[in-house]
Amino acid sequence: MREEIEIAKTHFEKILLEQLNRVDMLKNVDDWIDFSKIHPIIIGIIQGDGIGPEISVHAKKVLEFLLRSHLDGGKVQLRDIKGLTIENRAKVMKAIPDDVLEEIKKCHVLLKGPTTTPRKGDKWPNIESANVSMRRELDLFANVRPVKVLEKKIDWMFFRENTEGAYILGSKGINVTDDLSVDFKVITSQGSERIIRLAFEYAKNNDIKKVTVVTKANVLKTTDGKFLATAERIAKEYTEIEWDDWYIDIMTAKLIDPARQAQFRVIVSPNLYGDIMTDEAAQIQGGVGTAGSANIGKKYAMFEAIHGSAPRMVKEGRVKYADPSSIIKAGALLLHHIGMVELSKKLDMALDICTTFEKKISITGRNNGATGEEFTNYLINTLNDSNLSEKWKKYQ
Ligand code: IPM
Ligand code: MG
Repeated sequence: MREEIEIAKTHFEKILLEQLNRVDMLKNVDDWIDFSKIHPIIIGIIQGDGIGPEISVHAKKVLEFLLRSHLDGGKVQLRDIKGLTIENRAKVMKAIPDDVLEEIKKCHVLLKGPTTTPRKGDKWPNIESANVSMRRELDLFANVRPVKVLEKKIDWMFFRENTEGAYILGSKGINVTDDLSVDFKVITSQGSERIIRLAFEYAKNNDIKKVTVVTKANVLKTTDGKFLATAERIAKEYTEIEWDDWYIDIMTAKLIDPARQAQFRVIVSPNLYGDIMTDEAAQIQGGVGTAGSANIGKKYAMFEAIHGSAPRMVKEGRVKYADPSSIIKAGALLLHHIGMVELSKKLDMALDICTTFEKKISITGRNNGATGEEFTNYLINTLNDSNLSEKWKKYQ
């Protein structure tokens, strides 16, 4: 028994040293990248696996259409990044193969197709999720997920901490004995501060008067306690913004409470609660396939569909019927991030028209619906319409 405890202690010591180094790095606060000064802005399109290569081709076509003059003028470059497939990752036993990571780091921003996350019992080795690894490697500390439901007056912006919490050591738990397993959750002052500040800054810049902090600080007194205490401290700097805090359990109930849901606007939380809430929120909006997700750091940023790689669609030969609207929506978030705000708005409007308002064709994921290519052509035709914004306003 003693020996097992010694092994666990050595493991824990190593983790603590790594995390203390991380805190030191977090103390050096970098400036945000300024895209107006970057020439060319390199957008990497990571195809992923499963339905990823198919839907990312459609997203690329839409970006090419919108960015035509910037591509011709040399302000923007699009670059395909292949090889982030489960087959390659399993071959080298890495969440992201080294050569792929090198290519990724040569880009400024990334649009990412889904990648398979192995789970115990499937045919793949149990390597770490490519998303989780990329968020850590590129320090993409903010997972920003908008959810809107016009008829319910829902307009939420989630800021999920993306690099620590229950995730950071998710692959480094320890089986002390056959019967005793321990995982670790990490919250740092610096990690909490930067995501909470981003949420408050977003509220301030968009004239939103309310920020909601979600934790389980009544039970996880140390880690969530720190997150909540940090929020309390930062909130004092934003006197014009009202803030409140909720525990994750009651928050998941209140998100579906018609009397309460529209009151939430900007929501900030540690990693795992944000993961759970944003799936719930996306479902309220119409399903996880309808949501886009931004993973933002001060240097790099990665934009992706919320859904997975849909291995069942691949197995059943339905890839061409996969819905590209989620990754295209992620493309709109990408355009916004690199400062092309008008193009981003245009794309959002066209998506609203094609997926909700006009919906001339619909995608079902099967051969009784449109293909991704047909949908993309419909979207591009809609974008091409010079009356796009009038058309959109008409539906409001
Ligand atoms: C998400 C996903 C990922 C996460 C998975 C694929 C590891 O659910 O982006 O929300 O849990 O963060
Ligand atoms: Mg999730």
